[in-house]
Amino acid sequence: MEMLKQPLRIHNLEIRNRLVMAPMECRKTDEFGEVSQEMLDYYDQRTRGGDFGLIITEHHFVSPDGRASSRQLSIVDDSKIESNRRLAKLVRNNGSAVFMQLGHAGMMAQPLSGDGNALSASDISIPSPLGGEISAEEMSIEDIGRVTECFAKAAVRAKKAGFDGVEIHAAHGYLLSQFYSPIINCRKDAYTCETLDGMGDFVSTLRCYKLSARKSGRNFQSHYALALMTTVRAAALCTRLPPRHKNLQRQALIF
Ligand SMILES: Cc1cc2nc3c(=O)[nH]c(=O)nc-3n(C[C@H](O)[C@H](O)[C@H](O)COP(=O)(O)O)c2cc1C
Repeated sequence: MEMLKQPLRIHNLEIRNRLVMAPMECRKTDEFGEVSQEMLDYYDQRTRGGDFGLIITEHHFVSPDGRASSRQLSIVDDSKIESNRRLAKLVRNNGSAVFMQLGHAGMMAQPLSGDGNALSASDISIPSPLGGEISAEEMSIEDIGRVTECFAKAAVRAKKAGFDGVEIHAAHGYLLSQFYSPIINCRKDAYTCETLDGMGDFVSTLRCYKLSARKSGRNFQSHYALALMTTVRAAALCTRLPPRHKNLQRQALIF
């Protein structure tokens, strides 16, 4: 137990202790995915007193076609930075570091626009946990590039909003775990679940984004360090993965 109270350094980020609040969607946003006062109150109640070293927020969707639920937080464009800044400030003022969790629901999405099929690794229909079937359209190489870019831009927005890092949500049957799934991913190109080139590409795009931001001289990048940190817990989907892939279920990028 003593160990839990010890500080932990992850790259240039010092966490005051090893207690981490797991991401948990509380469904207190407005219909546009903005941080509401009710949500700020919820995070205040949990973080007041600074008992946690690190808070990982509930998942934010990074593009409109990746929204998992009608009350999910959004970070799809710059207009979302301001309300997220209030959330980051509140948690940090209460004494904890804070990461924004980023995700895309893939075939589990309830898109904002309502038109078009949900996207996934393959053209496939599977039984829905809610009954009936859910179908998805296979992502083209261009779709993969666009969604990857959405993750990268969302990470920069999180930084601008004052977060200490981001965590990539790659569990719970959402888009990235769909790419890992041998049931859902039937691709024959560079993005098969076996090669996991999709994740390699995704991480290298984030790295490129970091480097180009640095070269452009934006000062918020001055202490921007990349770390891949595993914060794995057993998700149901994890059990279907070969052990060597399990540490990719959740990854974090520390600013
Ligand atoms: C209401 C609720 C919402 C959750 N929302 C998220 C989420 O947004 N992102 C995520 O990665 N996990 C989410 N989870 C999963 C939790 O972070 C956690 O992994 C899960 O409850 C298992 O916890 P345990 O490993 O301590 O048993 C949610 C869980 C619950 C109960």
